[in-house]
Amino acid sequence: MVKYGMILMGVFFVVMFGVVPVHAADYVGSKKCKMCHMKQFKSWETTKMAKVFELLEPGVRAEAKTAAGLDPNKDYTGDATCLPCHTVDGTAEMPNVQCEACHGPGSEYMKVMMTNRDYKRDELIAKGLIVPDEATCRKCHNEKSPFYKEFNYEQRKADGTHEHFPLKKAH
Ligand code: HEC
Ligand code: HEC
Ligand code: HEC
Ligand code: HEC
Repeated sequence: MVKYGMILMGVFFVVMFGVVPVHAADYVGSKKCKMCHMKQFKSWETTKMAKVFELLEPGVRAEAKTAAGLDPNKDYTGDATCLPCHTVDGTAEMPNVQCEACHGPGSEYMKVMMTNRDYKRDELIAKGLIVPDEATCRKCHNEKSPFYKEFNYEQRKADGTHEHFPLKKAH
Protein backbone atom coordinates (compact mmCIF):
# COMPACT_ATOMS: atom_id res chain seq x y z
CA MET A 1 0.00 0.00 0.00
CA VAL A 2 2.81 2.38 1.03
CA LYS A 3 4.82 1.49 -2.09
CA TYR A 4 1.78 2.04 -4.31
CA GLY A 5 1.42 5.52 -2.75
CA MET A 6 5.06 6.31 -3.53
CA ILE A 7 4.63 5.32 -7.16
CA LEU A 8 1.53 7.50 -7.41
CA MET A 9 3.51 10.40 -5.92
CA GLY A 10 6.23 9.84 -8.51
CA VAL A 11 3.71 9.82 -11.33
CA PHE A 12 2.20 12.98 -9.87
CA PHE A 13 5.57 14.79 -9.97
CA VAL A 14 6.32 13.68 -13.52
CA VAL A 15 2.86 14.79 -14.69
CA MET A 16 2.96 18.08 -12.78
CA PHE A 17 6.50 19.15 -13.65
CA GLY A 18 7.22 17.13 -16.76
CA VAL A 19 10.46 15.80 -15.24
CA VAL A 20 11.61 13.36 -12.60
CA PRO A 21 12.46 15.58 -9.62
CA VAL A 22 16.22 16.11 -9.14
CA HIS A 23 17.52 17.46 -5.86
CA ALA A 24 19.47 20.69 -6.42
CA ALA A 25 22.46 21.41 -4.16
CA ASP A 26 21.98 23.47 -0.97
CA TYR A 27 24.31 25.86 0.84
CA VAL A 28 25.81 24.29 3.99
CA GLY A 29 27.93 27.18 5.38
CA SER A 30 31.70 27.60 5.85
CA LYS A 31 31.84 25.75 9.18
CA LYS A 32 31.13 22.52 7.30
CA CYS A 33 34.10 23.11 4.97
CA LYS A 34 36.36 24.07 7.86
CA MET A 35 36.73 20.52 9.22
CA CYS A 36 38.58 19.38 6.10
CA HIS A 37 40.01 22.68 4.82
CA MET A 38 41.39 24.26 8.00
CA LYS A 39 44.25 26.07 6.21
CA GLN A 40 41.99 27.76 3.66
CA PHE A 41 39.43 28.53 6.37
CA LYS A 42 41.94 30.21 8.71
CA SER A 43 43.27 32.32 5.87
CA TRP A 44 39.80 33.20 4.50
CA GLU A 45 38.67 34.32 7.98
CA THR A 46 41.25 37.11 7.90
CA THR A 47 40.02 38.54 4.56
CA LYS A 48 37.69 41.50 4.24
CA MET A 49 35.19 39.34 2.39
CA ALA A 50 34.58 37.27 5.53
CA LYS A 51 33.04 40.38 7.11
CA VAL A 52 31.09 42.17 4.38
CA PHE A 53 27.68 41.78 6.00
CA GLU A 54 28.47 44.27 8.76
CA LEU A 55 29.10 46.93 6.10
CA LEU A 56 25.31 47.10 5.73
CA GLU A 57 24.83 48.18 9.36
CA PRO A 58 24.12 51.83 10.21
CA GLY A 59 27.19 53.95 10.95
CA VAL A 60 29.68 51.52 9.38
CA ARG A 61 31.93 53.18 6.72
CA ALA A 62 29.76 56.28 7.06
CA GLU A 63 32.06 58.49 4.99
CA ALA A 64 32.20 56.08 2.08
CA LYS A 65 28.40 55.67 2.12
CA THR A 66 27.82 59.43 2.14
CA ALA A 67 30.27 59.88 -0.74
CA ALA A 68 28.36 57.21 -2.72
CA GLY A 69 25.03 58.95 -2.12
CA LEU A 70 23.76 56.42 0.44
CA ASP A 71 22.31 57.24 3.87
CA PRO A 72 25.04 56.45 6.44
CA ASN A 73 22.47 56.07 9.25
CA LYS A 74 20.19 53.67 7.40
CA ASP A 75 20.07 49.96 8.25
CA TYR A 76 20.67 48.15 4.94
CA THR A 77 20.85 44.62 6.46
CA GLY A 78 17.40 43.77 5.11
CA ASP A 79 17.71 45.69 1.82
CA ALA A 80 17.10 43.45 -1.19
CA THR A 81 19.31 45.59 -3.44
CA CYS A 82 22.38 45.13 -1.22
CA LEU A 83 21.95 41.55 0.05
CA PRO A 84 22.90 39.60 -3.12
CA CYS A 85 26.49 40.87 -3.01
CA HIS A 86 26.92 40.93 0.77
CA THR A 87 25.67 37.38 1.46
CA VAL A 88 26.01 33.90 -0.05
CA ASP A 89 22.37 33.36 -1.01
CA GLY A 90 20.77 36.80 -0.88
CA THR A 91 19.52 36.36 2.72
CA ALA A 92 20.84 37.31 6.16
CA GLU A 93 20.79 33.60 7.07
CA MET A 94 24.02 33.12 5.06
CA PRO A 95 25.90 36.40 5.67
CA ASN A 96 29.28 37.41 4.12
CA VAL A 97 31.21 36.04 1.14
CA GLN A 98 31.60 32.53 2.57
CA CYS A 99 33.29 29.63 0.76
CA GLU A 100 30.22 28.74 -1.27
CA ALA A 101 29.76 32.26 -2.68
CA CYS A 102 32.83 31.44 -4.80
CA HIS A 103 32.78 27.61 -4.85
CA GLY A 104 29.05 26.97 -5.33
CA PRO A 105 26.48 25.29 -3.01
CA GLY A 106 28.25 22.41 -1.27
CA SER A 107 25.71 19.83 -0.08
CA GLU A 108 26.25 17.48 -3.06
CA TYR A 109 29.93 17.88 -4.04
CA MET A 110 30.88 17.67 -0.35
CA LYS A 111 29.53 14.12 -0.24
CA VAL A 112 31.96 13.15 -3.01
CA MET A 113 34.90 14.85 -1.24
CA MET A 114 33.97 12.97 1.93
CA THR A 115 33.78 9.54 0.36
CA ASN A 116 36.26 9.52 -2.54
CA ARG A 117 39.62 11.29 -2.27
CA ASP A 118 40.43 10.11 -5.81
CA TYR A 119 37.47 11.97 -7.29
CA LYS A 120 37.70 13.48 -10.75
CA ARG A 121 37.10 17.23 -10.77
CA ASP A 122 34.37 16.90 -13.43
CA GLU A 123 32.34 14.78 -11.00
CA LEU A 124 32.38 17.63 -8.49
CA ILE A 125 31.52 20.20 -11.14
CA ALA A 126 28.52 18.06 -12.15
CA LYS A 127 27.42 18.29 -8.50
CA GLY A 128 27.68 22.07 -8.30
CA LEU A 129 31.37 22.85 -7.58
CA ILE A 130 32.60 26.07 -9.12
CA VAL A 131 36.32 26.38 -9.79
CA PRO A 132 36.37 30.16 -9.44
CA ASP A 133 37.55 32.40 -12.26
CA GLU A 134 37.14 36.08 -13.05
CA ALA A 135 33.43 35.64 -13.91
CA THR A 136 32.77 34.31 -10.38
CA CYS A 137 34.07 37.55 -8.89
CA ARG A 138 32.27 39.73 -11.43
CA LYS A 139 28.92 38.57 -10.03
CA CYS A 140 29.62 41.11 -7.28
CA HIS A 141 32.57 43.17 -8.50
CA ASN A 142 30.62 45.01 -11.19
CA GLU A 143 29.12 48.43 -11.88
CA LYS A 144 25.89 47.65 -10.03
CA SER A 145 27.88 48.01 -6.82
CA PRO A 146 27.68 51.58 -5.44
CA PHE A 147 31.37 51.15 -4.59
CA TYR A 148 32.67 49.55 -7.78
CA LYS A 149 36.42 49.86 -8.18
CA GLU A 150 38.52 48.69 -11.09
CA PHE A 151 38.99 44.93 -10.83
CA ASN A 152 42.21 43.20 -11.83
CA TYR A 153 41.58 39.48 -11.32
CA GLU A 154 45.10 38.20 -10.66
CA GLN A 155 45.88 41.05 -8.28
CA ARG A 156 42.58 40.71 -6.40
CA LYS A 157 42.84 36.94 -6.24
CA ALA A 158 46.17 37.34 -4.47
CA ASP A 159 44.74 40.01 -2.13
CA GLY A 160 41.28 38.80 -1.38
CA THR A 161 40.38 35.10 -1.52
CA HIS A 162 42.53 32.97 0.78
CA GLU A 163 46.01 31.58 0.73
CA HIS A 164 46.31 28.73 -1.79
CA PHE A 165 47.83 25.34 -1.06
CA PRO A 166 48.65 22.68 -3.68
CA LEU A 167 46.17 19.78 -3.75
CA LYS A 168 47.53 16.40 -2.73
CA LYS A 169 46.13 14.66 -5.79
CA ALA A 170 45.74 15.63 -9.47
CA HIS A 171 41.99 14.86 -9.77
C1 HEC B 1 26.58 44.20 -7.44
C2 HEC B 1 27.04 43.87 -6.10
C3 HEC B 1 26.86 44.85 -4.97
C4 HEC B 1 25.72 45.49 -4.56
C5 HEC B 1 24.33 45.45 -5.22
C6 HEC B 1 26.06 46.25 -3.38
N1 HEC B 1 27.39 46.06 -3.07
FE1 HEC B 1 28.41 46.89 -1.51
N2 HEC B 1 30.16 46.26 -2.33
C7 HEC B 1 30.27 45.38 -3.39
C8 HEC B 1 31.67 45.18 -3.70
C9 HEC B 1 32.21 44.26 -4.79
C10 HEC B 1 32.41 45.99 -2.81
C11 HEC B 1 33.93 46.16 -2.78
C12 HEC B 1 34.39 47.08 -3.87
C13 HEC B 1 35.88 47.00 -4.07
O1 HEC B 1 36.63 47.11 -3.09
O2 HEC B 1 36.28 46.79 -5.23
C14 HEC B 1 31.42 46.65 -1.96
C15 HEC B 1 31.74 47.53 -0.92
C16 HEC B 1 30.82 48.08 -0.04
C17 HEC B 1 31.16 48.94 1.09
C18 HEC B 1 32.56 49.41 1.48
C19 HEC B 1 32.85 50.72 0.77
C20 HEC B 1 34.17 51.36 1.15
O3 HEC B 1 34.74 52.04 0.26
O4 HEC B 1 34.64 51.21 2.29
C21 HEC B 1 29.96 49.27 1.70
C22 HEC B 1 29.78 50.17 2.92
C23 HEC B 1 28.90 48.64 0.94
N3 HEC B 1 29.46 47.91 -0.10
C24 HEC B 1 27.55 48.77 1.21
C25 HEC B 1 26.54 48.46 0.29
C26 HEC B 1 25.16 48.88 0.44
C27 HEC B 1 24.61 49.68 1.62
C28 HEC B 1 24.49 48.40 -0.64
C29 HEC B 1 23.02 48.58 -1.02
C30 HEC B 1 22.55 49.95 -1.09
C31 HEC B 1 25.47 47.68 -1.47
N4 HEC B 1 26.69 47.75 -0.86
C32 HEC B 1 25.17 47.04 -2.67
C33 HEC B 1 29.23 44.79 -4.07
C34 HEC B 1 27.92 45.22 -4.02
C1 HEC C 1 29.09 37.58 -3.19
C2 HEC C 1 29.81 38.78 -3.62
C3 HEC C 1 31.29 38.73 -3.88
C4 HEC C 1 32.01 37.81 -4.64
C5 HEC C 1 31.46 36.58 -5.38
C6 HEC C 1 33.37 38.26 -4.63
N1 HEC C 1 33.50 39.39 -3.87
FE1 HEC C 1 35.25 40.35 -3.41
N2 HEC C 1 34.22 41.68 -2.21
C7 HEC C 1 32.86 41.69 -2.03
C8 HEC C 1 32.51 42.77 -1.12
C9 HEC C 1 31.09 43.15 -0.69
C10 HEC C 1 33.74 43.40 -0.73
C11 HEC C 1 33.92 44.62 0.19
C12 HEC C 1 34.75 44.33 1.42
C13 HEC C 1 35.14 45.57 2.18
O1 HEC C 1 35.26 46.67 1.60
O2 HEC C 1 35.35 45.44 3.41
C14 HEC C 1 34.79 42.66 -1.43
C15 HEC C 1 36.17 42.93 -1.30
C16 HEC C 1 37.17 42.29 -1.99
C17 HEC C 1 38.57 42.57 -1.82
C18 HEC C 1 39.16 43.57 -0.82
C19 HEC C 1 39.24 44.95 -1.40
C20 HEC C 1 39.95 45.90 -0.46
O3 HEC C 1 39.51 47.08 -0.40
O4 HEC C 1 40.89 45.51 0.23
C21 HEC C 1 39.26 41.77 -2.72
C22 HEC C 1 40.75 41.75 -2.94
C23 HEC C 1 38.26 40.95 -3.41
N3 HEC C 1 37.01 41.30 -2.94
C24 HEC C 1 38.55 40.00 -4.37
C25 HEC C 1 37.62 39.09 -4.92
C26 HEC C 1 37.94 38.02 -5.84
C27 HEC C 1 39.31 37.75 -6.41
C28 HEC C 1 36.77 37.35 -6.09
C29 HEC C 1 36.56 36.13 -6.98
C30 HEC C 1 37.49 35.03 -6.85
C31 HEC C 1 35.72 38.00 -5.33
N4 HEC C 1 36.27 39.06 -4.65
C32 HEC C 1 34.40 37.60 -5.29
C33 HEC C 1 31.94 40.84 -2.62
C34 HEC C 1 32.25 39.73 -3.40
C1 HEC D 1 36.30 35.18 -2.90
C2 HEC D 1 36.25 33.86 -3.48
C3 HEC D 1 36.64 32.66 -2.65
C4 HEC D 1 36.18 32.34 -1.40
C5 HEC D 1 35.24 33.13 -0.52
C6 HEC D 1 36.79 31.06 -1.08
N1 HEC D 1 37.58 30.63 -2.11
FE1 HEC D 1 38.57 28.83 -2.20
N2 HEC D 1 39.37 29.39 -4.01
C7 HEC D 1 39.12 30.58 -4.66
C8 HEC D 1 39.96 30.66 -5.84
C9 HEC D 1 40.03 31.83 -6.80
C10 HEC D 1 40.72 29.45 -5.88
C11 HEC D 1 41.76 29.05 -6.92
C12 HEC D 1 41.12 28.56 -8.17
C13 HEC D 1 42.22 28.23 -9.19
O1 HEC D 1 42.66 29.15 -9.86
O2 HEC D 1 42.61 27.08 -9.23
C14 HEC D 1 40.30 28.68 -4.72
C15 HEC D 1 40.82 27.42 -4.39
C16 HEC D 1 40.41 26.63 -3.31
C17 HEC D 1 40.88 25.28 -3.01
C18 HEC D 1 41.92 24.51 -3.82
C19 HEC D 1 43.25 24.53 -3.09
C20 HEC D 1 43.80 25.91 -2.85
O3 HEC D 1 44.18 26.19 -1.68
O4 HEC D 1 43.88 26.74 -3.79
C21 HEC D 1 40.23 24.88 -1.87
C22 HEC D 1 40.39 23.54 -1.16
C23 HEC D 1 39.36 25.98 -1.45
N3 HEC D 1 39.49 27.03 -2.34
C24 HEC D 1 38.55 25.94 -0.33
C25 HEC D 1 37.88 27.07 0.17
C26 HEC D 1 37.21 27.10 1.46
C27 HEC D 1 37.12 25.93 2.43
C28 HEC D 1 36.67 28.36 1.60
C29 HEC D 1 35.94 28.95 2.79
C30 HEC D 1 36.62 28.86 4.10
C31 HEC D 1 36.99 29.09 0.39
N4 HEC D 1 37.74 28.29 -0.45
C32 HEC D 1 36.58 30.41 0.13
C33 HEC D 1 38.20 31.54 -4.29
C34 HEC D 1 37.52 31.58 -3.09
C1 HEC E 1 35.04 15.49 4.66
C2 HEC E 1 36.05 16.37 4.17
C3 HEC E 1 35.65 17.52 3.24
C4 HEC E 1 34.65 18.46 3.40
C5 HEC E 1 33.60 18.56 4.50
C6 HEC E 1 34.81 19.40 2.31
N1 HEC E 1 35.87 19.03 1.51
FE1 HEC E 1 36.59 20.03 -0.10
N2 HEC E 1 37.94 18.54 -0.44
C7 HEC E 1 38.18 17.47 0.42
C8 HEC E 1 39.29 16.69 -0.11
C9 HEC E 1 39.87 15.43 0.53
C10 HEC E 1 39.71 17.33 -1.31
C11 HEC E 1 40.89 16.92 -2.18
C12 HEC E 1 42.12 17.52 -1.53
C13 HEC E 1 43.43 17.16 -2.19
O1 HEC E 1 43.48 16.43 -3.19
O2 HEC E 1 44.45 17.66 -1.67
C14 HEC E 1 38.83 18.50 -1.47
C15 HEC E 1 38.95 19.41 -2.51
C16 HEC E 1 38.29 20.64 -2.56
C17 HEC E 1 38.49 21.66 -3.57
C18 HEC E 1 39.42 21.55 -4.76
C19 HEC E 1 38.62 20.99 -5.92
C20 HEC E 1 39.47 20.73 -7.14
O3 HEC E 1 39.81 19.56 -7.37
O4 HEC E 1 39.76 21.68 -7.87
C21 HEC E 1 37.66 22.71 -3.27
C22 HEC E 1 37.52 24.02 -4.03
C23 HEC E 1 36.94 22.36 -2.06
N3 HEC E 1 37.33 21.10 -1.67
C24 HEC E 1 36.02 23.16 -1.45
C25 HEC E 1 35.19 22.74 -0.39
C26 HEC E 1 34.12 23.54 0.15
C27 HEC E 1 33.76 24.93 -0.31
C28 HEC E 1 33.54 22.80 1.15
C29 HEC E 1 32.34 23.16 2.00
C30 HEC E 1 31.11 23.45 1.27
C31 HEC E 1 34.27 21.55 1.22
N4 HEC E 1 35.26 21.54 0.27
C32 HEC E 1 34.01 20.52 2.13
C33 HEC E 1 37.50 17.19 1.57
C34 HEC E 1 36.41 17.88 2.06
